[in-house]
Amino acid sequence: MAIVVTVAIAALFFVLFLFIPEPPAGKKAGTSLIQGRSYSPDLSPRDLFQVACSQCHNLPPLTHRNREDWRILVLKMNRKMLQTGKKYLSSDQIDPLVSYILSQQNSP
Ligand code: HEC
Repeated sequence: MAIVVTVAIAALFFVLFLFIPEPPAGKKAGTSLIQGRSYSPDLSPRDLFQVACSQCHNLPPLTHRNREDWRILVLKMNRKMLQTGKKYLSSDQIDPLVSYILSQQNSP
């Protein structure tokens, strides 16, 4: 008899567990500060560079670095944007921005 009661209670808790509501969007741990603050996917890499990279300092000179170095730098800058609550780049925007920077770095 005791085993039946135990199993029934376990089943009841299992069913109740299924009804625990999802936390509402924006309330999930750690993400509420940054939700909806990345740049629109409609911005061209050129616009992104001008808007995103002038939030904290003047636009940097596009000195000669290789793709990997620019990528690391852009990722580092993007982390600063996240940490300081600025608008930031989505992961899809990193590589196009790096390509734009590389295409510009030899022009005056
Ligand atoms: C959240 C503020 C912030 C934003 C936005 C930002 N930067 Fe910076 N940037 C900094 C700070 C602070 C430094 C100096 C300290 C350092 O290098 O970590 C810096 C330094 C730099 C430097 C010189 C450092 C070096 O290693 O040569 C370059 C180049 C640069 N940023 C490029 C960019 C580009 C490109 C973007 C856009 C993707 C950008 N930054 C956006 C804060 C920012």
